[in-house]
Amino acid sequence: TSEQGVAGVPQVAGSNEAGTEQVITILYGSQTGNGRGVATELAEKAQAQGYAVNLTSMGDYKTRQLKQESLLLLVVSTHGEGDAPDDAIELHKFLSSKRAPKLDNLNYSILALGDSSYEFFCQTGKDFDSRLSALGAKAITPIVECDVDYQEQAEQWQADVLEAVKPLVQSAGASVVSIASSQVATSNFTKQKPYTAELLVSQKLTGRDSDRDVRHVEIELGESGIQYQAGDALGVWFSNSQELVSELIEALELDENEQVTVSKESLALRDALTHKKELTQLYPGLVSGWAELSKNADLLTLSADKALTREFVNNHQVADLVRLYPAKVTAEQFVGLLRGITPRLYSIASSQAEVESEVHLTVALVEDERDGVARFGGASQFLASAEEGQAVQVYVEPNNHFRLPENPDTPVIMVGPGTGVAPFRAFMQERAAQGVEGKAWLFFGNPHFEQDFLYQTEWQQYLQSGELSRIDLAFSRDQQHKVYVQHKLAEQGEQLWQWLEDGAHFYICGDAERMAKDVHQALLDVAVKFGHKTPEQAEQYLEGLRAAKRYQKDVY
Ligand code: 2AM
Repeated sequence: TSEQGVAGVPQVAGSNEAGTEQVITILYGSQTGNGRGVATELAEKAQAQGYAVNLTSMGDYKTRQLKQESLLLLVVSTHGEGDAPDDAIELHKFLSSKRAPKLDNLNYSILALGDSSYEFFCQTGKDFDSRLSALGAKAITPIVECDVDYQEQAEQWQADVLEAVKPLVQSAGASVVSIASSQVATSNFTKQKPYTAELLVSQKLTGRDSDRDVRHVEIELGESGIQYQAGDALGVWFSNSQELVSELIEALELDENEQVTVSKESLALRDALTHKKELTQLYPGLVSGWAELSKNADLLTLSADKALTREFVNNHQVADLVRLYPAKVTAEQFVGLLRGITPRLYSIASSQAEVESEVHLTVALVEDERDGVARFGGASQFLASAEEGQAVQVYVEPNNHFRLPENPDTPVIMVGPGTGVAPFRAFMQERAAQGVEGKAWLFFGNPHFEQDFLYQTEWQQYLQSGELSRIDLAFSRDQQHKVYVQHKLAEQGEQLWQWLEDGAHFYICGDAERMAKDVHQALLDVAVKFGHKTPEQAEQYLEGLRAAKRYQKDVY
C-alpha cells in the first residue's frame, strides 16, 4: 500500500497553528472498502475547503483521543446479522462500556452503510449514534442510513456535513490532511471511477459433468498502472443480460425506448435496466413497493411479514416478482423502485509478480432454477458469457486483513474450498516468484475430484517443485458420506498443531456462513486435543492468533 496522502498531499500532523482542537476527525469502519471510500471522498472534499482533516480507520484509532475531539465524522457499515466490521469492533465495544467518557463537547455526524435485505439494517451506525448521543455528544446532522446503492445519499451527506461544519470549525487556510498510512488506495481507479479493462479469457474450470460452472477469468489492466497485492479483491461492474431485460420489458408491456430518469439523467428504459439498475438481487423495499402498486392481496400479506419477505427476497429475483404478482406500472414507477446496480468483489487469484499487468479471478456462475426458469447472478453471468476483448470496468479493493506473512520463512496453512481457493493461487504465485522457502499447506474441497479439482495441474506443479509442501483434499460427494475441509483438518490435527506451534499463519477463504464456522470449530478442537487446552483456553488461543495477524479470513 502506498503511503502518500490524499491527492498527493504529504502527511502532516493534523493540528492547526492556533493549537486549538480544530481538526475534523473522520473515522471509518469498513469491511469491503465502501466505508473507506466514502470517508476518503469526504476527507478530500474537506481538505479542498481548507480544513485540517484526520482520516483514520476505526481499527487504528486510539480511544483515549476521544475526549480531545471536537468534531467526529463517522462512516460505518453493518454486516450479516447486525455485525460491526472488524475494524469497528473495538470502538463499538468501547462506546458501550463503562470506560466510555462523557463527550459533552463533541459534535458528530454518522453515515451508516448497510443492505436492506438484512434484518439489522445499518445497525452498527445506529448503535454509534445512540451511544454517542447517550454520552452527551451532539449530532450536527441526523444519521443517514444507506442501502447498497449508497453513492447519491453519501454525496448528499458529505455536502450537508460540510455545510454544518462551517460555523463549528475554522478552516485552517492551508490544506492540511493527515492520513493513517494503511488505507490509501493503490491507484487512481476507484469504485466510482473504475478502469475500463479488457477481458482476455473466460474459461470453464469445472468438467462437463460438474454441477457447477466455475470460470477462470483473465483481465488485462494494460497501461492503467493499477497495482494489487496477493489478498486484494477486484471490484467488477457488470451489465444485465439482454434476455433478462427483454423478459422484464415484455412482462410489464412497456416500451423499451421510453425515457426514464435515473440519478437526474434521462435515458431509455432498456439502457436503464441494462446498465443502471440491479435486477438480480431483490430487497424488501421493492417487495412492499410492488405490493402497493399491484394491490395483490397475497403479496400485501407477504410484504407485511418481515421474515417471509426476507425469505422471498433471498430466493427470487425482480423478474420472478413481476411474473408471480403481475401489475400495471409505468416505466418511471418501475425504475424508481429498483436499486442502483453495484459492482461485485472477487478475491484476486493471481500475483503481479507472475502475471504483471493481468489480473485473474475464479468465478462461480451463480445459477438457480425456479419453476423451470433459469436465473443467474448478475456479475457472474456477465463474466461467464463475456467474449474475448470485451470491455470490463474494474478497480482494486485493497484487503489489508488478508496478507502473506512478512517473514517469508513463516509457514502458511491455507483453507480454501470451492472458489475460496482463489487468493491461495495468488499466494502461491507470489511465493514462487519470490523464491520463498517457508512451508505451505493447502486444504481444498469441492464436490467431485474428476469434475471440480480447480487448478489441479498448478497445485501438482507446486507440489513437485516443493513450493507447496502438502495438499489435503475433501471431495465431498465422491463417497457415501460428506467429506469437508474441516474433516481433513481434524484428521491432520497433530501435524496442524505442530505447524501452528512452529508459527504458521492460518488463512480461510470462502463461505462465511457454514464453512468458516466449521473450520473455526475444527481449529478449536485441535487446540483442545493436541494443545491440551480447555475450550476457553482454545478460544483465547485463536483470539491470540487473530490479534497477532496469524489467523486471517476472507469470507463472504
Ligand atoms: P457439498 O456441496 O457437497 O455439500 C465447495 O462448495 C465445497 O464445500 C463443496 O464440496 C461443498 O460440499 C463443501 N461444503 C458445503 N458445506 C460445507 C461446510 N459447512 N464446511 C465445509 N465445506 C462445505
